Amino acid sequence: MGAAQQPTYPDADEVARVLAELRHRPPLVFAGECDDLRGKLAEVAAGRSFLLQGGDCAETFDTVTAANIRGKLRVLLSMAVVLTYAAQVPVLKVGRIAGQYAKPRSRDTETRGATTLPAYRGDAVNALDFEPASRRPDPRRLIEVYNHSAATLNLLRAFVKGGFADLRAVHSWNSDFVRNSNVEERYEQLAAEIERALAFMVACGVDNESFRTVDFYSSHEALLLEYEHALTRIDSRTDTPYNVSAHMVWIGERTRQLDGAHVEYLRHLRNPIGIKLGPSVTPSEAVALAERLDPDHEPGRLTVISRMGAARVRDVLPPIVEAVEDTGRKVAWVCDPMHGNTFETSLGYKTRAFSQVADELNGFFDVHQELGTWPGGVHIELTGDDVTECVGGVDELAEADLANRYETACDPRLNRNQSLELAFLVAERLTDGRIRRVNPVQEYSAEDF
Ligand code: PEP
Ligand code: CO
Repeated sequence: MGAAQQPTYPDADEVARVLAELRHRPPLVFAGECDDLRGKLAEVAAGRSFLLQGGDCAETFDTVTAANIRGKLRVLLSMAVVLTYAAQVPVLKVGRIAGQYAKPRSRDTETRGATTLPAYRGDAVNALDFEPASRRPDPRRLIEVYNHSAATLNLLRAFVKGGFADLRAVHSWNSDFVRNSNVEERYEQLAAEIERALAFMVACGVDNESFRTVDFYSSHEALLLEYEHALTRIDSRTDTPYNVSAHMVWIGERTRQLDGAHVEYLRHLRNPIGIKLGPSVTPSEAVALAERLDPDHEPGRLTVISRMGAARVRDVLPPIVEAVEDTGRKVAWVCDPMHGNTFETSLGYKTRAFSQVADELNGFFDVHQELGTWPGGVHIELTGDDVTECVGGVDELAEADLANRYETACDPRLNRNQSLELAFLVAERLTDGRIRRVNPVQEYSAEDF
């Protein structure tokens, strides 16, 4: 079976030249970092940590600017602070960033009026404008993917280790919040509490490096196999292949065929691997994929990202979780409440309703609560800007508001307020007494002594 969702390039020689060049470029990540992330995902799988994974649906070359990258990092760090402080759970931070440039499409072409052109497949392949020249797949864009990913990751590394992520700056991350938002007040209150707690600790002589820096990892969908393959290297320490374009890569819903090229490629990598599962998946398919991608039952190896839709999650997810858990392996169970809840408005905007996103998340928590398994994390499409792409949420965006600032190159993203609102919602579910708590206070009975 040929690989699904690959572009057809007009000039094969040019593709070969580009791939040869990419094979010579230095890695963007170090294999040891991927191992660290796998270890941290094992903590998620064990129920001791929570994964926050998020970023654009599709990054674009034009938006690789300091302001844009800072905005996304800031909203992720703010969400992580809400989760860590409010729910007292360690939060593992992974961006959908520094490589998320290729999109799977349901249709190969797009028709507007009498004109049909190739679909936009992300900046990695072609350009968004509806012009024949823009939509022609150009392999040289793969070099640009590498360059823009390198620039993005470089700035992220500088931010997270160079002082931007200092917890004492928690207030300033959101100093230019949209005013009069209820979420803003909640956040400010939480930030003030954190500042007092930190000042107390510093006054007591505790001043830890972990207050000043965070660990932050990159991830993207491994869609364009030629690109991913050109950035796969044998690690000299272990003699095993790593994808060195991101710490973690995942397989999308449209390319998860058991005998398909994507599963075949990803199963050989030593990176931690994600797999998206939509509502059509069966328990036996999920188990077969887990066997293929995690034959050694290695905790942290496999993250299962369900995206069932609010209407289906409560029915479809439980038998999947049960079947995979019955194999004895520990996977990280993560909820993507975005991709099963997309619809088009009467004005033609692709959108998602915050209420449905929240409903799928609640369904995910309900399912895990019922089964006694750990709801390990969330996978969100978001941006640091005050865009108007998803309806509802704290600012009650209506369908008519979407035209104000609809900027996504692909799927609708939560804006900053909606993202923070979501973080508060997740924190509430995590603190819900019925969910297994991290480091629970040990209760002893007389026989223990
Ligand atoms: C995505 O993550 O942008 C995506 C296309 O998701 P899925 O593969 O779950 O449809
Ligand atoms: Co998307």
